[in-house]
Amino acid sequence: MVSENDFGLAIFRPSIYKFLRMARWKDVEKKVLDCGAGGNNPPLALFSKHGYEAYGIDISDNALDEARNYAKRYDLEIKLSKADMRDLPFDDEFFGCVYSYNASIHLTKADTKKAVDEMLRVLKKGGLLCINFLWYKNVHPSLGEERVPGEFWNMEGGEETVHSFFTEEEVEEILKGTELVYRDKIQFEMCIDEKRLENHHLIIQYRRNENEQGKTLRKG
Ligand SMILES: C[S@@+](CC[C@H](N)C(=O)[O-])C[C@H]1O[C@@H](n2cnc3c(N)ncnc32)[C@H](O)[C@@H]1O
Repeated sequence: MVSENDFGLAIFRPSIYKFLRMARWKDVEKKVLDCGAGGNNPPLALFSKHGYEAYGIDISDNALDEARNYAKRYDLEIKLSKADMRDLPFDDEFFGCVYSYNASIHLTKADTKKAVDEMLRVLKKGGLLCINFLWYKNVHPSLGEERVPGEFWNMEGGEETVHSFFTEEEVEEILKGTELVYRDKIQFEMCIDEKRLENHHLIIQYRRNENEQGKTLRKG
């Protein structure tokens, strides 16, 4: 039996609720893919709880194990597999919804474009994509060296890691040809070890056009 408290941390992400509400309104198929779906608090738990057929991919075995343990603990039906969001192992137009939160932010900007193209490929026409971008407004010095504009490299957990930041214009370019349905522009501050960290996110929902022409589809 799942109590509300057990879902407390997943519920912490307002983006999922906003997405669920929009998906209900737009009447999209309740079949979702989460890209970067691993971890101890998998967003797919909430989709599954709301009656979605829930698929997730992640590149990390450890993150997948954590999500599988969570699903087992709460008896949730979640289909998880190891894959890279830049090359998704699904047929064209397989999903009604694609969701990805705080995962593509760790790709280079060129790879982010590749991943978004893949997310759109597996999304049905008229389907909904929800994805967040780091907004290129205020980058904390701890994020390291800016090697190309918007790409900051630092060490995290002993590994060299990139955080990619985008302007609104760049995001629009990446998602050209889709229809914007909802956008949150978020500024939040966190205090960690008495240091104040200011963050800006763009959390965006896009709809793949019903009448899209000439999209290059690769698989299926
Ligand atoms: C910060 S965690 C966020 C996890 C989850 N989306 C959430 O909101 O709790 C980022 C996840 O993205 C995964 N990831 C990073 N690059 C990836 C890639 N190229 N393909 C698939 N997953 C990736 C990581 O392994 C990690 O589990």
